[in-house]
This record gives sequence, structure tokens and C-alpha cells, in this order.
Amino acid sequence: MSIHIAAQKGEIAKTVLLPGDPLRAKYVADHFLSDVRLVSQTRNAFYFTGSYKGKELTVGASGMGCPSIGIYSYELFTEYEAETIIRIGTCGAYTTELQLFDLVNVDHACSESSFALHAWGIEQDRIPHQGPAFSRINETAALLGKSLKTCHIHSSDMFYRKDSGTPPVAQKHHCLAVEMEAFALFANALQLGKNAATLLTVSDVIPTHEKISADQREKSLLPMMELALEAGIRM
Ligand code: HPA
Repeated sequence: MSIHIAAQKGEIAKTVLLPGDPLRAKYVADHFLSDVRLVSQTRNAFYFTGSYKGKELTVGASGMGCPSIGIYSYELFTEYEAETIIRIGTCGAYTTELQLFDLVNVDHACSESSFALHAWGIEQDRIPHQGPAFSRINETAALLGKSLKTCHIHSSDMFYRKDSGTPPVAQKHHCLAVEMEAFALFANALQLGKNAATLLTVSDVIPTHEKISADQREKSLLPMMELALEAGIRM
């Protein structure tokens, strides 16, 4: 057991899919994995380990924001010897270069967050995906005929804020979209020599106010889940 995950050593697979929402982790486990075991439910952050096409995978919740994914990814990498974490989540597009339902594989996460600096002395405000997971996702998308975009994204510490424009760090690095976790995941993987990627579905387009509706949400995330699972078994 680690502080925030109750699984025993050996109950977490080498590759972990990490949505923010515990119920999304449960959805992936219920719909895609066989021989599933619930290996942790500390704080209702469910972690399930099971089999996808004969390969062992774990899916669990990161929670929201850099501090939360910073905790879970660190414990998965260090206490459970996970080698690869693929975050699966949603993002808001800053520009109409991206459209609702687009799938994005994150090239670099850019942030004004002090997480990387204060955790590891990493001074840059732009951290790339780590290891071969990003390429494996691109190759898998090509194999499955799924269209996938790659770009830099902004990992924001704020969901709500006063100004509605694109924040300076996102402008500086030409980030096409915003989410809240990839920067800390990539920082931890960089520090620990592990593999990390982030796969996102565009759930809203900020300038046009378009949003995936509540009833579209479940179905709209299936292509991302499928791609993450297919890439996950190829790590
Ligand atoms: N901001 C931050 N995270 C998000 C957003 C957003 O607008 N949309 C989806 N995840």
C-alpha cells in the first residue's frame, strides 16, 4: 500500500490509464476489461486491474489538477513500479483549429504552475511527453485509421478565472487547448525516468462556446478510451 492507493504491490499493471474521474475509470473497466479486480478505492479514487485482449492493464483516477495527478502518478511510478501512464481526459480548445470530439495527443504541456519547479527544480514552463508512449499512440491511431492531432496544450491551475482570453503561457507556446494535469504527469515522469503521454478529447471550444452535451459525453469519449487501450497493450 502507498499513502493514497491501497493496492498491494504487484496489483498494478506496468501500464496505467489515468482518467481524472473515478467513474470514468469504472466505465473503462466495466466496458473493456475482463478478469477485473478493484485494487484500490481510497478516497473513492477507484483503481481496477484487468485484462484487455490478453494483456494486463490498470485504469484508475488521477483526480483534477496538477497537485492531485502529481500524487497519484508519483505513487504509481515509485511504489508500484508502473512504467507508463497514459492520461485520458478532456480539454477546452482555445481556437477553432480544433473542433469538438477531436482527439489530441499532447506533444508538450505548458504551464504557469510551480509544480515542476518546487517538486524537482525543473525550471522550464514547457515539458514534453516522456518516452515512447506518445509515438506508440500515434502509430496505433494510424493502424486503427483513427484521426489524431498532436499539439502543445496548456495545463492550467484554474478552471474559473476573471479573464476569458488565452493566458500568456499558452500564447507564448502556441497551445491549442487547455486541461489541468499533463504538466505534473510529464514532470514526474521526467524526474523518475518513466513514460507518460496524455490523450485528450476536445469537450468544448472556448471562443464559440460549443460544448459536448451531457448525453453525448459518454459516447464521445469511447474513441479515446479505445485508442488508449490499444496503445496501452503495445507499450
Ligand atoms: N479548462 C480546463 N480544463 C478543461 C477545460 C477548460 O476549459 N475543458 C475541459 N477541460
